[in-house]
Amino acid sequence: MRLRIRTPFLAAAGLAAGLLLLTVGCSLNIEGQQSALDPKGPVAKNQYDIFMLTLYVTTFIFITVGGALAWVLWKFRQRKGDDPNFIPPQSHGHPMLEMGLVIASAGLLVIIAIPTFGGIILKKVVPEELLDGAIEVNVVGFQWWWAFEYPEQGFYTANELVFPAGRAVKINLRADDVIHSFWLPKLAGKVDLIPGQENFIWIMADEPGYFWGQCAEFCGDSHAYMLFRAIALPEDEWEEWLETQQRDTVADDGSFEPLLAREDWGYPEDKILKGAEVFRQACAGCHSVNPRIQTNGPNLAHFGSRTSVAAGWYENEYDLLYRWIREPEKVKPGNFMYRGFLDRDGRTVIMPGLKDYDLSDEEVHAVTAYLYTLR
Ligand code: CUA
Repeated sequence: MRLRIRTPFLAAAGLAAGLLLLTVGCSLNIEGQQSALDPKGPVAKNQYDIFMLTLYVTTFIFITVGGALAWVLWKFRQRKGDDPNFIPPQSHGHPMLEMGLVIASAGLLVIIAIPTFGGIILKKVVPEELLDGAIEVNVVGFQWWWAFEYPEQGFYTANELVFPAGRAVKINLRADDVIHSFWLPKLAGKVDLIPGQENFIWIMADEPGYFWGQCAEFCGDSHAYMLFRAIALPEDEWEEWLETQQRDTVADDGSFEPLLAREDWGYPEDKILKGAEVFRQACAGCHSVNPRIQTNGPNLAHFGSRTSVAAGWYENEYDLLYRWIREPEKVKPGNFMYRGFLDRDGRTVIMPGLKDYDLSDEEVHAVTAYLYTLR
C-alpha cells in the first residue's frame, strides 16, 4: 500500500491543530479553579452527568459514522489496473436501512433529551427535601462587580457569596445595566442576569469550600475581570459570619470613623482618621459602609474581612488594594471607580470618579489602611 498523503496537506493540518490548541485556552487540570469537570454540588453534578452522557453518545456516533466512512473509503478505493471511468451500479431506496437510521438517530437524541429536561427542571426548582434550611440571596450584576443581598437578614455585601455548606441557596439574578452571566463552574452552569427580567438558579456545596466564579457573558471593557468568590462555610462559621455582617463597622455620625477598637486598628490612629476623611470625600458617594444600604458601588461595610478585592480579581492584600485604588484604570480598564458616572449626554458628571480627585500617594495609603478597619 502506498499512502498518497502529500506534505502540504500534513503541514496545513498540523498548523490548524496548533492554532486550535492556541485559541481554546483550556486548562488540562481537571481540578482547576474554574473547572466544570470537578463538580462539588448536586446541580453541578447533574450537569456534569448530562455532559458525560452527551460525550459518550456523540463519541459513539463519531466512531460509528467515521468508522463506516473509513471502511468504505478503504474497501472501494481505486486499485492498480482499475478503469478510472468505471462507475459501479448505483442503488436507490433501501426503506429498512433508511428508516432504521432515522429511528436510531432519533433514539440517540431521546437518550440525551430526557436527562437534559430533567436537569432544566432540577436547576429551576429546589427539591422538596432541601427546602428546609434553604437560604436566599439576591444577586445583581453590575459593570463589573456583583452585589449580594441577603433579604431574609436584610444586609448587603459584594463580590463574595458566603453560604452554609450542605444547604440549598436560592439565587435570584438581576441586572440593571447590561446582560451578565452568573457562573460558578464547580457548583452550577451559567445563568444570565438580564435587565428587566429575574432569573433563578439554586446551588449547593456538598462540603465547605472556596470557589471561583466568573461573569460568563461579554459585558464591556472589564468583563474578563468580573469575577467573584463563593465560600461555603460549616454551620457554626456561617452563623458567625451572618451575625458579623449585620453589625455596623462605622460610626453613624458622618465621620466614618471605624467602630473597631483603636488598639485593633493595626495602623497609626492619624493614618486611619485621615483615611476615614478621604473615604468620606472621595469614596462614600458610591460605596456604602452601612450593611443595610446598597448604593451604586460595592458595599464595603465589612471589606476588611473579605478575601479578595476588585471583584475577585486580586487577593485582599494591602499592596494589591493600594494598587487598585492608586491605578484603577490599569487594573480594570473602563471601570467606573476611576471614570465616575456621567449623565446620558456623556459630559455632565453625576458622580465624580477617582480621576477627578487627584489623591496623593499618602491619601491612597491612608484610605487603603482605613478599609482594613472595616470588619
Ligand atoms: Cu459581566 Cu461579563
